[in-house]
Amino acid sequence: MLNGFLIYSIKDYEKNKWFIGEFLTKANHFGLCLKLVFKENCNYVDDTLVFEEESLDSGVFSIDDCCFAINRSRDARISAGLEQLGIRVFNTSRITEIANDKWKTYEFVKRSDVRTANTWLIKRENISHSIEKVDFPIVVKSLDGHGGHDVYLANSEKDLVIACEKIAGREILVQQFIADALGDVRVYVMGGRVLAAVKRVNDDDFRANISLGGKATAYELSDGEQLEVAKVIKLLDADFVGIDFIIDDEGFVFNEIEDAVGTRSLYSVYDYDVVSMYLEYIADELRRV
Ligand SMILES: Nc1ncnc2c1ncn2[C@@H]1O[C@H](COP(=O)(O)OP(=O)(O)OP(=O)(O)O)[C@@H](O)[C@H]1O
Ligand SMILES: [Mg+2]
Repeated sequence: MLNGFLIYSIKDYEKNKWFIGEFLTKANHFGLCLKLVFKENCNYVDDTLVFEEESLDSGVFSIDDCCFAINRSRDARISAGLEQLGIRVFNTSRITEIANDKWKTYEFVKRSDVRTANTWLIKRENISHSIEKVDFPIVVKSLDGHGGHDVYLANSEKDLVIACEKIAGREILVQQFIADALGDVRVYVMGGRVLAAVKRVNDDDFRANISLGGKATAYELSDGEQLEVAKVIKLLDADFVGIDFIIDDEGFVFNEIEDAVGTRSLYSVYDYDVVSMYLEYIADELRRV
């Protein structure tokens, strides 16, 4: 058996108990033994990462016996700390770092010729100067928001000021609003291969997030769309991610990479056992090295 940590934040654990249970019970079928640990119980002593005793509750195994981790906490620093100890982390710290910072993601994806919405990173104190260069309507985002929170539509300077007040942090992302959007497509990618795609549409809000009322349906990628997806996959060396696009009448516009990708919509429209597929992929990867 290969021992590994499954890392969550306490808040996300509460929301994902069923999914986590699937991981913990199915791991054994693939020669893996998983232990749930919380990111809140992770500290650094000098530059070494340690999990406090409480999170290693039953003492089944400690960090010294751990050879891999599935990090669903969105915390790249934990992954980097584990990698320093020689532990293979799914996804790697590099992917977690890029995917959880919308500006880093934008810069990263701009290396390819994939279509993106024009995006600016603006310092809060410079907002009044920068605004002259921006055409309304725009979308205003925090760098690290999730679930559509911290994503605001601004039709005027006044809206922008209000949005900025709601967003914490010094830097703010401003993006051209895709007004004729026909919905979002999330492409699930495991080990560089497309698993499936899901379309999300929300009739009541410009944000297609399921948590805000978006509805998911199965989606088949056209040949052209597959080429766009392949451009992003080629840049990434990711284990399991979602690649999100917004569709307008010209096709796909890249939106973001989801590191701890939510699978509710995948389960709701397809008959896949995603957890078993991921565990099998992880076991194969660990055997390969
Ligand atoms: N530039 C844009 N133009 C039009 N709609 C947009 C734009 N940016 C985002 N949206 C809509 O708002 C939604 C939320 O935005 P985004 O995905 O950037 O935020 P999020 O909070 O990170 O969501 P997630 O939970 O997927 O990480 C998108 O799924 C899309 O439907
Ligand atoms: Mg999103």
